[in-house]
Amino acid sequence: MSKPKSNLFGLSGSLKDQLAQKMLEKRLKKVTEAQMIEPEVHRVRKSLQSNSSIPDEYCRFDKFPGYQQIRILETGGKQLGVPSPFFKVHEGVAKNTTTINSQEYINFASYNYLDLCGHPEVSDAAKKAIDQYGTSASASRPVAGERPIQRELEQALAKVYDVDDCIVFVSGHATNVTTIGYLFGPKDLILHDSLIHNSIVQGGQLSGATRLPFPHNDWQALDEILFQQRRNYERVLIVIEGIYSMDGDYPDLKRFIEIKQRHKAFLMVDEAHALGVLGEKGHGLKEQAGVDGHEVDLWMGTLSKTLASCGGYIAGENALIEHLKFSAPGFLYSVGIAPPVAASALAALKILDREPMRVKQLKERGHQFISLAQEKGLNVGSSAGLSVIPVITGSSAMAGRLANACFERGINVQPIFYPAVQEGMARLRFFICSSHTEEQIEHAIDVLVEEIARLK
Ligand SMILES: Cc1ncc(COP(=O)(O)O)c(C=O)c1O
Repeated sequence: MSKPKSNLFGLSGSLKDQLAQKMLEKRLKKVTEAQMIEPEVHRVRKSLQSNSSIPDEYCRFDKFPGYQQIRILETGGKQLGVPSPFFKVHEGVAKNTTTINSQEYINFASYNYLDLCGHPEVSDAAKKAIDQYGTSASASRPVAGERPIQRELEQALAKVYDVDDCIVFVSGHATNVTTIGYLFGPKDLILHDSLIHNSIVQGGQLSGATRLPFPHNDWQALDEILFQQRRNYERVLIVIEGIYSMDGDYPDLKRFIEIKQRHKAFLMVDEAHALGVLGEKGHGLKEQAGVDGHEVDLWMGTLSKTLASCGGYIAGENALIEHLKFSAPGFLYSVGIAPPVAASALAALKILDREPMRVKQLKERGHQFISLAQEKGLNVGSSAGLSVIPVITGSSAMAGRLANACFERGINVQPIFYPAVQEGMARLRFFICSSHTEEQIEHAIDVLVEEIARLK
């Protein structure tokens, strides 16, 4: 048999024909598809022509209800003579004092609980990490690889909770959203405290699971819901906080553990405001309640508070951490924690372990604040008098006026309005830190009492 003739490119005649045929088929397919699409394009075009009836709010950012709410609040604030308390510019490290507009204020608006943000050792660790690794991890860790400092931080955090391992994300909020959003689904149930942080709610919404709040700290109500509902769902997640971010109280962890075990549910504790605060060593609700780390399924925390950095973490058993590392979208499809950010959190954690005095000081100042406030008849709600102490004013207008009056008198504290808290429960939220002095606390309470009386 004679060999088929090869052309200039070394292709045999029949192979060339086959390629030409394939090319033709491809072109035909394209044209056919275009023909099929054409009527659809016409239909869409036609419907667009009749779109003059689409209201402005569907196609203009300034018509979004959320944006209009902001405008209304701003106008209302101006009419009431209350300037906006948001986005103040700090000109240095915000600790027990801060500088705003070249003026020094006693500061209660930053959760630098143990004064580790601005600590020379923490800042040095960040600088060294920049010198060694640069400012960014430059891609996701599974893809682009690790920096030793990232794993060191995770291992140190896992040790705090005495669990197998830990995973660190670039944001505390995103940690909750991606972890809950990824692990749970439409056949599952998420039960969370009614005062839970927004990030948990967002994660629950993303998951598609049924989401039910139970009354604040009410483990009996939770037990009852589970008794009624557990069998209707596959997985059940219970979420509570170590210290509640708006109210400053904490749950009876042992009760929640007993309930989650009995109902075969997972328990997650958000330690954002509890790490560095609860327990003698500042190891959070686990230490305070005297439980074993493995009795809670997901220990969540942020690097942005006690740890003077930025990011979030989940600590727990190997199967959980490995699963999240390979699959959680907020980890897999997001850049790894930046080396200086990881280094500063790790340095802060080392100081926490070395200097438990800071935890003790924070508690003393918190207790002083709440005792004086209660003595003077201020409404501090259910706060335990630690890192977070609210002074509840009721109306948002009163909270705004009071915050501004305090600011005029050299005290920086943030008002909290609806929807961050329930309507009628507006407040000033005081973050206590270990470097607040007794005099600063006394002065703040005096100013509060005087200004509340004046504004009434
Ligand atoms: C309870 C709680 N969880 C999660 C977060 C989110 O953490 P981050 O601000 O570090 O993103 C916060 C923020 O304040 C919080 O209070």
